[in-house]
Amino acid sequence: MLITLIRPDDWHLHLRDGAALRAVLPHSARQFARAIVMPNLRPPITTVAAAEAYRARILDALPPGMSFAPLMTLYLTDNTPVDEIRRAVEHPDVHAVKLYPAGATTNSDSGVTDVDKCDAVLATMEKLGMPLLVHGEATDPAIDVFDREKVFIERVLQPLLTRYPRLKVIFEHITTSDAVEFVAACGANVAATITAHHLLYNRNAIFSGGVRPHYYCLPVLKREEHRRALLRAATSGNHRFFLGTDSAPHARHTKEAACGCAGCYTAHAALELYAEAFASAGALDRLEAFASFNGADFYGLPRNTDQVTLEQAQCRVPDTYAYAEGEALVPLRAGEWLPWRLLA
Ligand code: NCD
Ligand code: ZN
Ligand code: ZN
Repeated sequence: MLITLIRPDDWHLHLRDGAALRAVLPHSARQFARAIVMPNLRPPITTVAAAEAYRARILDALPPGMSFAPLMTLYLTDNTPVDEIRRAVEHPDVHAVKLYPAGATTNSDSGVTDVDKCDAVLATMEKLGMPLLVHGEATDPAIDVFDREKVFIERVLQPLLTRYPRLKVIFEHITTSDAVEFVAACGANVAATITAHHLLYNRNAIFSGGVRPHYYCLPVLKREEHRRALLRAATSGNHRFFLGTDSAPHARHTKEAACGCAGCYTAHAALELYAEAFASAGALDRLEAFASFNGADFYGLPRNTDQVTLEQAQCRVPDTYAYAEGEALVPLRAGEWLPWRLLA
């Protein structure tokens, strides 16, 4: 069986920098026309000038003959000036501003400690239509790690939208039925991205027969009932849910460690993994809108026009890929078989 769809875009992607960037970029460019590129480098991308320079490095790392458009984002801090937001709005290559609650995830130490500190910036974004991308987890260490998304909605996101009711918000990599219900109940200015791994796995994957660090990401995988709610949302036909892989590469030795990094690498087979999830729900006919239309429409960008084809055929995932400076990268499903394959 073959399925053909308009070429998809990835609305949440970590490309890293330097040799790591060169290692992972071809995987995304093989599948996706464009991607919203996360700004959580060290140091983070906090200015339009830094985003421009990072974009140039991404384009420079693209192998000859491949085409791919990086859509840049700014990393919001407590001190982001309103003028930087105005520059971003005017810049054709900067498409969103990312809110990392300080301490919530990988490279979030420079993130926002209290959204009230960003009042003027958020008011400007609301007025000028600049989308806010949100890593939605409360950071209070007293909160159970599995409840952080739900508590974030109650303590931060709902009050934020009450205060800025027309702010365009994309609730990134949602992982709970609470987030699904919240987004579904919001108006046309609020959307969410969903990863392939949160559609395919529940939290048992992290502990099956021992600790499995390659299934550890943030927000962490949740119970089966939440996975089912995400799958229902992704396949519902609601235009405000769309594809964002959150493919987050980390060198093998930094994941297989006493304190392993958070992030699953899925860019090598992103569309194949989504196809598997949609097929499991008998909803392959809904994949194209989720992967190729809804995100572009929400961002106000043109839809792609060329196509990709998936074949239902077993395809083995390598044990590792080469990563930066002699390091190895372990992809999701390493050494296992995938039921779908993207044709060249
Ligand atoms: C991401 C990373 O490694 O940059 N990790 C992750 O587990 N998702 C950061 C993020 O998206 O929160
Ligand atoms: Zn995140
Ligand atoms: Zn991410």
